[in-house]
Amino acid sequence: MTHDPRIEAVEHFYDFHPISAQQILAAVASRGVRLQDITEEVLQHHDQDHYGGTAAVDRLMAEAVVIAHDEVLDVCSGMGGPARYLAWKTGCRVTGLDLTQSRVQGATELTQLAGLADRVRFVEGNALAMPFESASFTLAMGQEAYAHIPNKAQLVRECARVLRPGGRWVFSDILKREHLTDEDARQLFDGMRFSEIASVEDYTAWVQANGMRLVRVVDLSEEWTRILLERHAMYRSLEAQTVQRLGREHFERYDHAYEHFVGLYQLGILGGALIHAVRDQ
Ligand SMILES: C[S@@+](CC[C@H](N)C(=O)[O-])C[C@H]1O[C@@H](n2cnc3c(N)ncnc32)[C@H](O)[C@@H]1O
Repeated sequence: MTHDPRIEAVEHFYDFHPISAQQILAAVASRGVRLQDITEEVLQHHDQDHYGGTAAVDRLMAEAVVIAHDEVLDVCSGMGGPARYLAWKTGCRVTGLDLTQSRVQGATELTQLAGLADRVRFVEGNALAMPFESASFTLAMGQEAYAHIPNKAQLVRECARVLRPGGRWVFSDILKREHLTDEDARQLFDGMRFSEIASVEDYTAWVQANGMRLVRVVDLSEEWTRILLERHAMYRSLEAQTVQRLGREHFERYDHAYEHFVGLYQLGILGGALIHAVRDQ
């Protein structure tokens, strides 16, 4: 696979993201919970790096009809919040794949603290060249991460490859609903490291080209516009912590980029959806 510098830029972005394992542990400690008393019930209020928290994982889980026997792959697992929640709620085994080493380390540490390491593991790697055998998983999932990935046709090929026949791929992603100007796309990459934003039509074509069938698309655009406004306020509330950890310039650059991103939702140019596809038998 040819080298794409956008991948390294995404990794660097997540090494310096305002939400980190360290920040999650600080939030847990501020609730008076000692390290040795951390459980999944405590962590799940702090470790979900997508829109809608555990309720969004519940919706994905219901859409995919997850059972204890599922072998799940969370493609772009971040700090592992959805992976742990899914394993804790259903008893299934989950492998999380993430590009960013600091995310994989943080996710592994949090999983050990929550006592879920026997069922949830994290692997460092690029979703465009997954380090897994073909037909390894019964379900692939992902939340609010694929907009970072360039060459999404390759991402879809990889997801189809690692799924067993009949396996489901259920994910949510940031999508374009209208034409995105080159200038907006440039700003989205500069500020948020979104490498390529796809549309529902793009995904439909890629799914069909890779031996999968589209089951359902649930439009989440309105819900996400509201959530993003709240999230922006939450990042602003972390100003003191972020400035202390990463400096004022970093905080202001991120804040400005988020403002532009949320603005595109308010204009109806960006949106989002939960997409469910199945690999043919
Ligand atoms: C917004 S976070 C989402 C994390 C997780 N899905 C959640 O909901 O908590 C996006 C994650 O995608 C990862 N990522 C981005 N591009 C990737 C790639 N090409 N391969 C694997 N992981 C990637 C980043 O390292 C980051 O941890």
